[in-house]
Amino acid sequence: MSEDVTAADQPEVPAEGGIVAEVARMSPAELAAHEAEVAEAVAPDREIEVAVGDTLLAMQDVTLQFGGLVALDSVNFEIRRGEILGLIGPNGAGKTTCFNVMTGVYRPTSGQVVLEDRPLGKRKRHEITQLGIARTFQNIRLFGEMTTLENVVVGADARHKTSVLGALARVPRHHREEREAVERGMALLEFVGIADRAADKAKNLPYGYQRRLEIARALATEPKLLCLDEPAAGFNPAEKEELMGLIRKIRGDGYTVLLIEHDMRLVMGVTDRIVVLEFGKKIAEGVPAEIRDNPAVIAAYLGVPDDGAA
Ligand SMILES: Nc1ncnc2c1ncn2[C@@H]1O[C@H](COP(=O)(O)OP(=O)(O)OP(=O)(O)O)[C@@H](O)[C@H]1O
Ligand SMILES: [Mg+2]
Repeated sequence: MSEDVTAADQPEVPAEGGIVAEVARMSPAELAAHEAEVAEAVAPDREIEVAVGDTLLAMQDVTLQFGGLVALDSVNFEIRRGEILGLIGPNGAGKTTCFNVMTGVYRPTSGQVVLEDRPLGKRKRHEITQLGIARTFQNIRLFGEMTTLENVVVGADARHKTSVLGALARVPRHHREEREAVERGMALLEFVGIADRAADKAKNLPYGYQRRLEIARALATEPKLLCLDEPAAGFNPAEKEELMGLIRKIRGDGYTVLLIEHDMRLVMGVTDRIVVLEFGKKIAEGVPAEIRDNPAVIAAYLGVPDDGAA
């Protein structure tokens, strides 16, 4: 659903008060006191018993054409359960288009995307969210008029049938769901490190907080695969360092991560494997050290002014 979110169609802001206001009054120390419960709430049933290494998602000969432009050209790669896979390549290489194909924004012209042995076929975006693929956007898309916490609860809403957003408006019979949704939302905000601004409108958050909120909202859908599209764009080195820590923590909780990132130091430092695209084609795949020394990859990046790439 989040693809539909634009400044032009902001939803109504649910009534504030109740738990939202309660959370707003909590001090950082009070929030920190919940820390022990946080990890459990964030990742209650991760399938961590499954051996790392079996295929979670497969791109099988995926081609996507926009008119005469071949944005993806017979792309094949697999994402293994439990790994952090980097997806890199120069501007226009087709990285974001991969996310769009995996999340049902576009259907492949030919080939298929297979999640846990099931082709995505004609499934719609919300169905794919329910199957377990979540993403963030290269350009942040949040509900600016809603609070930080409400943005995360909306993410949970995308997964569950009962409307926890309605529950936030304090319909009495939804009180228990409200508590649960808010507690889990708060746990997610603590997990990504922005719980101190839970009651602020998203549009008033500092940029780095907005990026983290996007991640929390994606995690709220309880994804099997979390796709991050340039989550460190615009970050300074210290913020990038913190983000690497967060991505590792996310994987440590049993999530599988697909990471698009231009900063080579970040990519090399955090990923297990890397797939490289250029002009819609996969030109290399391997562990970071192999990619760093790969002549085709070096050639693809020559002359491309990227921080850390040269
Ligand atoms: N909806 C669209 N219609 C037409 N062309 C598109 C569309 N979306 C993407 N493209 C084109 O497909 C190619 C791949 O774009 P994509 O956004 O996937 O690149 P990218 O690797 O994410 O690049 P960047 O690093 O700049 O974000 C580009 O040439 C782009 O212009
Ligand atoms: Mg892109």
